Amino acid sequence: METLDYDLVILGTGIAGMCAAIHASEASKNSIRIALVSKLHAMRSHSVAAEGGISGVLYPEGGDTQDMHAYDTIKGSDFLADQDAVELLAKSAPREIRFFEHIGVPWNRDEKQKITQRPFGGMSIPRTAFAADKTGFFMMRALYDEVSGIGNVSILHENFATSLIINENRFLGLHAIDLATGESRLIRANACIIATGGASRVFKFTTNSYSCTGDGTALALRAGLSLKDMEFVQFHPTALVPTGVLITEAARGEGGYLLNSKGERFMKAYAPSKMELAPRDIVSRSIITEINEGRGIADQESGLQHVLLDLRHLDHRAIEEKLPMVREITMKMINLDPFNEPIPVRPAAHFTMGGINTNINGQVMRDMNSAVSGLWAAGECSCVSVHGANRLGSNSLSQCAVWGRMTGISAAEYLSRNGTKQDVDSKVAELYAAKEEDRIARLIGGNGQNDPYRILADLRDTMDMNLYVYRNEKGMSAAKKDIERMASDFKSIAIKDKGKRFNTNIRDVLEIENLICLAQAITECAIRRKESRGAHSRTDYASRNDNEWLSHTVIRMENGNPEIAYQPVRITKWKPEERKY
Ligand code: FUM
Repeated sequence: METLDYDLVILGTGIAGMCAAIHASEASKNSIRIALVSKLHAMRSHSVAAEGGISGVLYPEGGDTQDMHAYDTIKGSDFLADQDAVELLAKSAPREIRFFEHIGVPWNRDEKQKITQRPFGGMSIPRTAFAADKTGFFMMRALYDEVSGIGNVSILHENFATSLIINENRFLGLHAIDLATGESRLIRANACIIATGGASRVFKFTTNSYSCTGDGTALALRAGLSLKDMEFVQFHPTALVPTGVLITEAARGEGGYLLNSKGERFMKAYAPSKMELAPRDIVSRSIITEINEGRGIADQESGLQHVLLDLRHLDHRAIEEKLPMVREITMKMINLDPFNEPIPVRPAAHFTMGGINTNINGQVMRDMNSAVSGLWAAGECSCVSVHGANRLGSNSLSQCAVWGRMTGISAAEYLSRNGTKQDVDSKVAELYAAKEEDRIARLIGGNGQNDPYRILADLRDTMDMNLYVYRNEKGMSAAKKDIERMASDFKSIAIKDKGKRFNTNIRDVLEIENLICLAQAITECAIRRKESRGAHSRTDYASRNDNEWLSHTVIRMENGNPEIAYQPVRITKWKPEERKY
């Protein structure tokens, strides 16, 4: 097996991962060897799909404050976010928007050349900076240019990590498959930042690209580390029917209306003061309630029930300047021009609020009390937690940038303190990697009969059916049983393609393994939380219950069984209150 040695390995090449690489390199004065590892070509990371913008207080003279940003985020989170982490986000985000300006992101600007900020759901003032509705693409392009110019950063494109190597609570390396050759690689390093994004592909109707299979999160769970708040999955209210492609919230921020089959702006019944710009959990529930009560519309091709997003009253020039991709998407995908017709939309899985349990610095926690040496997580795969039970739109890009920088700098500092590799650890890493290579060889070489693609389709069906916008005990228990059966079927999976080069069959099976284990974690945590909070909305426990449930769910696997504990929410200034919009 080939062995590659670095000081810092960053798993994932989206916005969080690339920010981490840049800041780690700078903090070390370009002295550490950094590998950015991705199962994709780096520029295909899902961050390129981010549309509407990034939040941060840029112009306090206009009346905005960091406290307002923090409070909006905490209220949006249904008071589950850790308030010290949210304050840190609000304080640090403006610097990150300016950092991106310096590396070349073409923010939309007003006539005075100030960066324009637009309204987003749950925000009390326009606070979202944007580059048209292609914000993620522009941020990624700037980061990729920047990273490509740093001599001590190598990008290992198309390397699929299958296991974290952790011994005595210390990170030692990764086992990965080089997809081009099919060969195993041991990537040794003294420090690692996991930045592999979310897991919304566990659902069928999703805004996420095929690659969003939560690989780093699953790797952490399998390595015995803890995940936090996995029951909280965000359903974005406006995904295009029938494909699920994201129609940005910015379309409502710029003034778009939501209409039911009777042509009514139904949000007035659910969030009269915020209307279409209520937080996403509320808008998604409102849409599904309209549909359940017979005021939805059926898509002719797919039968999917939906409502309409109406942009016809908006100025055409504003759409061209601020929402060009909305029009491109609807014209290309469903031959619909939003200048003339409203867009069919319904909620789709969009963001994993839970993730790898970290402390406020992004350091990965083995359990509630002990951190793993040399291991951090940043971006959507991590749960710091700044989003709590419901993320506000445009806070994710700020989170990626803020914790990308912070974890990069922390890792560089850690390396300057503990830099030198010990031979004995290298041997341990080799042993772990050899075992993992063997496990994968057995998986590929086995003569199982179960079709992985059937399992995947069934998994997504049960998640869509039972863990969507509204949940209850009966449905979630049915999903739990289904997933247990799928996990058992996975043990005798059929891999038909036994080849080595670019074997997408093997890659798919490894992703399916990850999705099954995350579906299990989501379901286990969701069944146990007997209340409704943010995006976890139960018809059988319809209210929030702060007396019993103002706490984070922490899950670990112990001998193959879930072990669940609860951790208090950190409250600094804002007492939980009823959430009204
Ligand atoms: O609707 C959007 O543009 C999505 C933004 C986000 O998820 O933050």
